[in-house]
Amino acid sequence: MTMTEEAGVADAPVHYNPYEYSMHEDPYPTYSRLRDEAPLYRNDDLGFWALSRHADVSAGFRDSARFSNSHGVSLDKAASGPHADRTMSFLAMDAPRHTRMRALVSRGFTPRRVVEMEDRIRALTLEHLEPALEAGSFDFIGDLAGRLPMDVISELIGVPRQDREELRRLADLLVHREEGVEDVPPSGIEAAFSLAGYYADMIAERRARPTDDLTSALLEAEIDGDRLTDDEVTAFLFLMVVAGNETTTKLLANAWYWAWRNPDQCAWALDGAVVHDPARIDAWVEETLRYDTSSQMLARITLEEVELHGRTIPAGDRVLLLVGSANRDPRVFPAPDRYDLRRDTSQLVSFGVGRHFCLGASLARLEARVCLTELAARVEGYGVDAEAATRVHSVNVRGFATLPTTVEVRR
Ligand code: HEM
Repeated sequence: MTMTEEAGVADAPVHYNPYEYSMHEDPYPTYSRLRDEAPLYRNDDLGFWALSRHADVSAGFRDSARFSNSHGVSLDKAASGPHADRTMSFLAMDAPRHTRMRALVSRGFTPRRVVEMEDRIRALTLEHLEPALEAGSFDFIGDLAGRLPMDVISELIGVPRQDREELRRLADLLVHREEGVEDVPPSGIEAAFSLAGYYADMIAERRARPTDDLTSALLEAEIDGDRLTDDEVTAFLFLMVVAGNETTTKLLANAWYWAWRNPDQCAWALDGAVVHDPARIDAWVEETLRYDTSSQMLARITLEEVELHGRTIPAGDRVLLLVGSANRDPRVFPAPDRYDLRRDTSQLVSFGVGRHFCLGASLARLEARVCLTELAARVEGYGVDAEAATRVHSVNVRGFATLPTTVEVRR
């Protein structure tokens, strides 16, 4: 490369398109440029703005009066608009509708229900883990991380075992994107209809014969005579699969991958099982959430003009809050590109901030803690076949589709 070409590359204005496969490979150099060169970035072709600094992303989450969820949180056009709440439930609502529905759902989806899942999560983990460890080599996604979250949500909402594989297939289709297609493909839309139909049947069944699962609890939830309708429960179950399944799968595999990439950190985390220090597993989970989070961005729509960094975002425009970038902002996290399990992660924004703060955060953390604890108790060391690993191609979910691994079991 000549000097002029080098200068040309360095001078080219930063370009950011979250549909590009190169961005799925590694978005972090682009995020760094966005934070420094274009903290309020505009992409005219795709029609969005993006905020990348920690301070702006957190402020955007808190400012629900101007940054609205009412058109959904996705950049995909087919998943956006005033009807986004049909599949994204209260995630795609503003107050007071959001407040009402989150309160009703919280009557069924209680912290106690989550805590009570711990033993089941451990049993489900071991069901997948034991044969995988016996084999010695396995696909971390296909054999473990891709199964556990769906099993957990399925048990929570009452999906029988024989239907889980099909539900997972449909959920995967919902988030998959072909290269060059900047919207939800027809297979994703079909999968959405199939899922909605499945839940409608399940709700009818629970109305006829209530059980002790979350679906029955949601049908019974009541505040001052107000209850959820069948359509509202369907939309919520939909949201659980989309919001709670992929994200947790990716969290588990990202933890496995980044620890392997950083052997000193890996040794420290795995040794936690030997020195009886469970806090090391929590640190492993939190640093992975910060360093490479599975939910990279959330979209908003402006309800009025917003002045920021010397520019004006008009009312009615799409704004992306780049969570993955905020978590790597050196203004908040010193040496942000270092994967360091002993750092302070308290400012991470991976679960959002404010009134839409992830309802499943404690469940996701519990699943990750249980699964990684069981792994650390049994595995002394491991390898990853990075050449053979493949990434999922989604506009906002970041992580692996396959992650072949070979483990050295503790004796
Ligand atoms: C690592 C795993 C997870 C990550 C990174 C994650 C991330 C997020 C984020 C960033 C939001 C806020 C969205 C916004 O402000 O627009 C959110 C909301 C939500 N998440 Fe999660 N999530 C995870 C796991 C889960 C799980 C396991 C569940 C349920 C079982 C869940 C259920 C929800 C729900 C219901 C909302 C909507 C809350 C509201 O709008 O009030 N999430 N999640």
